[in-house]
Amino acid sequence: MYTFLLPLFYFFILFSTTAAQPYKPTDYFLLNCGGATTTSDRKWDTDENSKFISSATSFTSTPNNRDPSVPEIPYSTARIFNTSSFTYTFPVANGPKYLRLYFYPATYSNHNANQSFFSVSSNGYSLLSNFSAFLTASYLATSLGGNPPVPHFIKEFIIYVNNTQSLNVTFTPSPNSYAFINGIEIVSLPENLYHKSTSVKYVGQHSGLVISENTGLENIYRLNVGGGQISPTADTGMYRSWDQDDRYVFPVSAMGLTPVNNTPIVYTANTPNYTAPELVYATQRSMGNLSRHYNLTWLLPVDSGFYYKLRLHFCNIIPQYTKQGAVVFSIFINNQTAEDQADVFYWSGGTGLPVFQDYVVFVYDFDGSGRKQDLWLAMAPNSKAADEYGDAFLNGLEVFKISMGGNLAGPNPELSPTPPPPLPPSVKVNKKTLPYATIIGGAGGVLLLLFALGFIVFWHRRVKQGGATDEKQYPKEPTPKDSGLPSDRCRRFTIKEVKDATGEFDENCVIGKGGFGMVYKGYIDNSTTVVAIKRLKATSNQGSHEFQTEIGFLSKLRHVQLVSLIGYCEDDGEMILVYDYMSHGTLQDHLYKRNNAHLPWKLRLEICIGAARGLHYLHTGANRAIIHRDVKSTNILLDENWVAKVADFGLSRLGPKEKGVDHVSTAVKGTLGYMDPEYYRMQQLTDKSDVYSFGVVLFEVLCARPVIIHRGLPDEEVNLAEWGRVNYRNGTLNEIVDKRISDEIAPNCLLKFGEVANSCIRMKGRKRPKMDEVVWGLEFALQLQQAAEKTGGVVGELKGGAWGSDQDFLYPMQVETTISSASTAAAIQHGLSSNDSSGGGFESDTYFTQPSDVSKDTYTVGR
Ligand SMILES: *[C@@H]1O[C@H](CO)[C@@H](O)[C@H](O)[C@H]1NC(C)=O
Ligand SMILES: *[C@@H]1O[C@H](CO)[C@@H](O)[C@H](O)[C@H]1NC(C)=O
Ligand SMILES: *[C@@H]1O[C@H](CO)[C@@H](O)[C@H](O)[C@H]1NC(C)=O
Ligand SMILES: *[C@@H]1O[C@H](CO)[C@@H](O)[C@H](O)[C@H]1NC(C)=O
Ligand SMILES: *[C@@H]1O[C@H](CO)[C@@H](O)[C@H](O)[C@H]1NC(C)=O
Ligand SMILES: *[C@@H]1O[C@H](CO)[C@@H](O)[C@H](O)[C@H]1NC(C)=O
Ligand SMILES: *[C@@H]1O[C@H](CO)[C@@H](O)[C@H](O)[C@H]1NC(C)=O
Ligand SMILES: *[C@@H]1O[C@H](CO)[C@@H](O)[C@H](O)[C@H]1NC(C)=O
Ligand SMILES: *[C@@H]1O[C@H](CO)[C@@H](O)[C@H](O)[C@H]1NC(C)=O
Repeated sequence: MYTFLLPLFYFFILFSTTAAQPYKPTDYFLLNCGGATTTSDRKWDTDENSKFISSATSFTSTPNNRDPSVPEIPYSTARIFNTSSFTYTFPVANGPKYLRLYFYPATYSNHNANQSFFSVSSNGYSLLSNFSAFLTASYLATSLGGNPPVPHFIKEFIIYVNNTQSLNVTFTPSPNSYAFINGIEIVSLPENLYHKSTSVKYVGQHSGLVISENTGLENIYRLNVGGGQISPTADTGMYRSWDQDDRYVFPVSAMGLTPVNNTPIVYTANTPNYTAPELVYATQRSMGNLSRHYNLTWLLPVDSGFYYKLRLHFCNIIPQYTKQGAVVFSIFINNQTAEDQADVFYWSGGTGLPVFQDYVVFVYDFDGSGRKQDLWLAMAPNSKAADEYGDAFLNGLEVFKISMGGNLAGPNPELSPTPPPPLPPSVKVNKKTLPYATIIGGAGGVLLLLFALGFIVFWHRRVKQGGATDEKQYPKEPTPKDSGLPSDRCRRFTIKEVKDATGEFDENCVIGKGGFGMVYKGYIDNSTTVVAIKRLKATSNQGSHEFQTEIGFLSKLRHVQLVSLIGYCEDDGEMILVYDYMSHGTLQDHLYKRNNAHLPWKLRLEICIGAARGLHYLHTGANRAIIHRDVKSTNILLDENWVAKVADFGLSRLGPKEKGVDHVSTAVKGTLGYMDPEYYRMQQLTDKSDVYSFGVVLFEVLCARPVIIHRGLPDEEVNLAEWGRVNYRNGTLNEIVDKRISDEIAPNCLLKFGEVANSCIRMKGRKRPKMDEVVWGLEFALQLQQAAEKTGGVVGELKGGAWGSDQDFLYPMQVETTISSASTAAAIQHGLSSNDSSGGGFESDTYFTQPSDVSKDTYTVGR
């Protein structure tokens, strides 16, 4: 089990765990290896001179440079073994015990973490073999979204102590290597919780191994499905931590749900109160009674060549579901039917109270490598069962690896190497990159450096080749010009008509301004129709291309959620576009740019849904996808009825032509702070780049602040995407919500909205939802808001940063590393685009020339 804990949770235990825990451990040890006895969230004992350690050689050390995001206890010290095996012996009663090993791979007294390989065994079980904490941390980091290494993690095992009254943990360094450990925890657990519980279903086989006192287990996943992180101290007494499931679930539009009326969770004889915390049963993910044809799926990477036990926790929390036969669904594990007609009411004797089911499945190792494979858990309504509601749901999930022949150790994860781009000899990087390395600091510096180098290389090439060759390198779609301007749906205006409409381009008619030119309000057809008239600067090459593109796309597209192009004018070398007038201006105007009255939360949600529909139409409405490429709050316009319309297609591109190809290679264009870091790095544009930008817009709507704030903020707050991501992970979104609406938002709605926004800005494009999934997710957030308003449970709950009864969601457990490529990209872009090189930024005129005819806030490379 991998868990990432933040020290912040100390503050919250004060509020949460005053009640007696359902389970009181009979054996409990918590060692701060190599360190002193101390108290953080719990009391940690030193292992120095303790009765637990053998006389073999070891020494203690502190990491040379501890990442500040890594909790001090137990990670600021380690015990190191570089000569021979070393054993800890704990006197315990017979029975099952949790063994938790805390690792922080860092450099200890010149022992580099990447040099450490070792094995760990316990009471005859091989737990880890030639194990690299460094590789494991790196793998976790990449699998958690492409960030630099997650600094620390916990491996969790269950050892059944059989007759021996002691639990031994032995560390054995691989040849010429060393072992280390930062913390050890041993906690007993109820005899029949996992080992002797009765019914286990075998998936894909009729019978199989029995989980007995001869079986060791490793917890791989423990998820509070549809809910927040649950800290060890909020568990039922065994100090398990429960993670959020959102990074494993597909489609992300599947609904996370908490009951509106907070019915108390009642435990039963078959599901005793220590099984899982109430919070696990109080939240769920359901398919949402929409009878859509999809499978609600979790993808969980596991080592192949092992049996796995899955424990699925259910509890009915939807008031409409009241009896057996109401909701009947199928459960698939690795594409095999584990349960054809799952019925939670049937399992719970008609009550819908908490119940769990265990399944065992073997994950085949096809190539003998033991490599990680995805374990698939899926559910869908059973179409044959004539149930009342076509739904399926899950509240909690635990996944255990089962020992085979006493072995639980798998191979070290392979890292997919992403080699840094080659460095051309002409580029000198010495002092130019330094300011950024120091901004981000510490461990991230090297990575950032590589990234910065890559960027410079990329820029350098671009600039050397010059603008003209760029489009040769990336063969362009035929522009609309090639096929002649359309005249059927798009009217051609004369320059006289335009001048009449705008009083000869009178300054008083100006409603917008940018690097591209001016936007005027005008009246056409004898002043019967109000229009917006965009006059592109005649000298602009860039403008000419965008002019053609915009006409090309917009004249063919008609959708209520897209701004309509009425016509154009190209007399006298002018480039003028005439649109429907949007009386409420841009979305941004109503968030923070002007002193407008604030937009109520529900209206914001409706605007977001509308804009998402517009983008969905762009991506799928024509026979080839259209990628907007410049989604931002100033390109979402609002008409007199507050209907959102996506505007400005000047940078739009057609998606890939060939089936199976998901990207087009193209020069990087877009806007600072909104730009998809993956696109930016790879120069491969996909519809998911728009999804990223839209995710940033969602955070903008929630927080009502600019996407980049250059000055006066701590680094992690500069870039809104990064700031939103951090706060989502920490469960502190409520603290960054626009103050003016914070008492309007229902907590459930915020949770869902945050989840959707966060999923949109995932580092890997393929992990982001499609726009239709975003629409569903936002619609569901709106439903949650409406439901909460009906029951009157909204107002005031968010005030003062408290979540009312949902307080436990605040547990800010998950650390996403502080450096992401998004912030890196932003930092670099920031350095490039702002002329104030106060931080000693890149010397922009050496390598980069900013095209002068580009709108100031639109950042364009290479043309
Ligand atoms: C848990 O259940 C046991 C047995 O039913 C009961 O004695 C105990 O008080 C319960 N503990 C809590 C904290 O609810
Ligand atoms: C183990 O580490 C200590 C401290 O760094 C060092 O003095 C000793 O030589 C090392 N022993 C071996 C066998 O590497
Ligand atoms: C281990 O890390 C150090 C410092 O980061 C590096 O110099 C060395 O090449 C790495 N060794 C291996 C085997 O990766
Ligand atoms: C643990 O180690 C102690 C001391 O070396 C030994 O006496 C005991 O038998 C060991 N227990 C097990 C379960 O291996
Ligand atoms: C341990 O793993 C490393 C890296 O995977 C490998 O180079 C080394 O040979 C392995 N050592 C043993 C003893 O298997
Ligand atoms: C555990 O104890 C049971 C009964 O005492 C015995 O049958 C079994 O072989 C033991 N298992 C191990 C691994 O020692
Ligand atoms: C599910 O959908 C049906 C038909 O649309 C509706 O009658 C029913 O009330 C819905 N149930 C819930 C729980 O929303
Ligand atoms: C399950 O089916 C999906 C889709 O057909 C496939 O991609 C996946 O690899 C399968 N998973 C397993 C474990 O067989
Ligand atoms: C759901 O998964 C099962 C098992 O992999 C598969 O047979 C079924 O076709 C899937 N259903 C949908 C709608 O994808």
